[in-house]
Amino acid sequence: MVGILVGGKGRGSNMRALISAGLPVSIVVGPSADAPALDVAAELGVATKVLDSRSPDFGPQLIEVLHAAGVQVLCLAGFLRLLPSSVLAAWPGRVLNIHPALLPAFGGRGMYGMHVHEAVRASGVTETGCTVHLVTEEYDEGAILAQLRCPVLPDDTAEDIAARVLALEHELYPHVVRGLL
Ligand code: GRF
Repeated sequence: MVGILVGGKGRGSNMRALISAGLPVSIVVGPSADAPALDVAAELGVATKVLDSRSPDFGPQLIEVLHAAGVQVLCLAGFLRLLPSSVLAAWPGRVLNIHPALLPAFGGRGMYGMHVHEAVRASGVTETGCTVHLVTEEYDEGAILAQLRCPVLPDDTAEDIAARVLALEHELYPHVVRGLL
């Protein structure tokens, strides 16, 4: 079974891609009841749970919810905070994240969303892509499991790059999770 942890503001498009790919997603956890991704999960018929990721009890609560849902692989999809080490210890090598750049480039604290694509555009690189990696106690530093690449074209805006990379994310994440299961 797969569990997905989403952020408070994310669209939930990677979550949707994982569910739509037919993966056995048993629970989607989000930080507040008005997280848009939780509505999408409910529409797709997947159970949802609200847990405040700022609470000191977040780690034990998340472990309990994931265990109850039979989760073997936990996928972060737009969740921007570091996870408690107790959660990482409970699913060793089984907590994944997708990042919208070719790590180790354009990763780390503050490198999320359009900040990544703006930095890619400003840097002058001719290639970008996305990375699925294991989650550790540092931002974007775990072992890289897979990457997909795409060009950065001379006239690209950051929005152009984001759209091209997002399409790759929706292809790569389900592929990697299926392999891990
Ligand atoms: C994606 O760009 C992903 O790479 C990053 O957060 C974003 C989430 O987007 N980790 P969405 O909510 O899945 O559409």
